[in-house]
Amino acid sequence: MSLEPQDFQFLSNLVRARSGLVLTEDKHYLLESRLLPLIRRLKLESISALVAQLRTRPDEAVLVEINEAMTTNETSFFRDAKPFDQFRQITLPHLIANAKNGKIRIWSAACSTGQEPYSLAICVLEEAAKLGGIKVEIIATDIASHVLKKAEEGLYTQFEVQRGLPIMLMVKYFEQRGDKFRIRDNVRALVTYQQANLLENVGNLGQFDMVFCRNVLIYFDVPTKAKALLGIHGQTLPHGALCLGSAETIYGVTDKFKPASADEKARGIYFRQEYSGTL
Ligand SMILES: C[S@@+](CC[C@H](N)C(=O)[O-])C[C@H]1O[C@@H](n2cnc3c(N)ncnc32)[C@H](O)[C@@H]1O
Repeated sequence: MSLEPQDFQFLSNLVRARSGLVLTEDKHYLLESRLLPLIRRLKLESISALVAQLRTRPDEAVLVEINEAMTTNETSFFRDAKPFDQFRQITLPHLIANAKNGKIRIWSAACSTGQEPYSLAICVLEEAAKLGGIKVEIIATDIASHVLKKAEEGLYTQFEVQRGLPIMLMVKYFEQRGDKFRIRDNVRALVTYQQANLLENVGNLGQFDMVFCRNVLIYFDVPTKAKALLGIHGQTLPHGALCLGSAETIYGVTDKFKPASADEKARGIYFRQEYSGTL
């Protein structure tokens, strides 16, 4: 199956308009391989046939499915380790000191299949003694409904729990269900899932003390990154912190945020530009 340039253009425009993901010319193979199951299910002959059908008769369910198929949902528990150590040692104490109304709200803004919000919830439970009665709420969102479904189930394979999760924490916070592992209810109870597109109005999510937006901006072009960060800025409380992925930065993208500290220990954590405090 070879992809015609005009069909690639149609599909990459569609994905970019819906989720911000930029499919560069070298992504022909990725597009073909990800859309193959859909082409088969719809009993179509080729991607060209799919595009021809969508041009004449756009079907919203198929458009959503194409967009979801093109998202990259790669994730793992305690991915990159450092952001979670920083959260426990540096950011959470700052959030506790600034907590308003006895509550801390954390947003995992592209949560994929739940490993990131559950890792944060585990950190919170591990630090429970320091909370002094403050309640923590983790709101986890993603654009793709299929990953949210898995996240809500909280059921993982042995391979998934072995990736990044220290054995002690696995034993403490998961229970075995047949050949799978289910996140325990006390962890699950801290997390609420909701579908949200970072490029649309996220105002209904409310204000947050901390936003984790990791490993999604890398798929966007600069104006799209800036747009997503503007939306996040609007949902961040004055003392709130932002944590980006290890390959992501605010430099050259936005002046709405600044590094939370000059100290190397706090690298990758940002405050709102207007905030005068430091970590
Ligand atoms: C590579 S995963 C990152 C998961 C997790 N944050 C981590 O670092 O392990 C990227 C996630 O971003 C989601 N995504 C892509 N575009 C999005 C958008 N416009 N709004 C919200 N989520 C989006 C994808 O569905 C995917 O689950």
